[in-house]
Amino acid sequence: MAVEQTLSIIKPDATRRNLTGKINARFEESGLRIVAQRRLHLSRAQAEAFYAVHKERSFFGDLCTFMCSGPVVAQVLEGENAIERNREVMGATNPANADEGTIRKDFAESIEANSVHGSDSPENAAIEIAFFFSAIDIVG
Ligand code: CMP
Repeated sequence: MAVEQTLSIIKPDATRRNLTGKINARFEESGLRIVAQRRLHLSRAQAEAFYAVHKERSFFGDLCTFMCSGPVVAQVLEGENAIERNREVMGATNPANADEGTIRKDFAESIEANSVHGSDSPENAAIEIAFFFSAIDIVG
């Protein structure tokens, strides 16, 4: 298995409830290392650009409104098989379908306010990491 990097976002519902540390502990306990991290408040244009792949979906407008409703924490997680490992730690997109012990099962409020985002493929991880970070920001 290869060491990978994946892009994670702690979403506004989680930062509002001061859950950054608890969520970061889940990543670290699973063997993922936080090798870059920044807290920022996305503009509407930035949220629309980040989620451009979903722009034809019915939930796109509401998703972008939510993602710029408060601060987010963008981060790069590194580890063996990091993309899939992070998706396991996060749990299913809809918290109603998430396994016990996952971040979304324990913290998410709804399918939209689902506490975390994680890249779904190596190709998207590279694009999403570059959206938030330069190479100089990522310290393994
Ligand atoms: P995320 O992994 O950030 O990718 C796109 C987001 O759209 C997703 O998590 C959800 O928060 C949000 N979303 C809202 N409604 C839906 C839906 N019906 N299906 C999938 N994603 C949705």
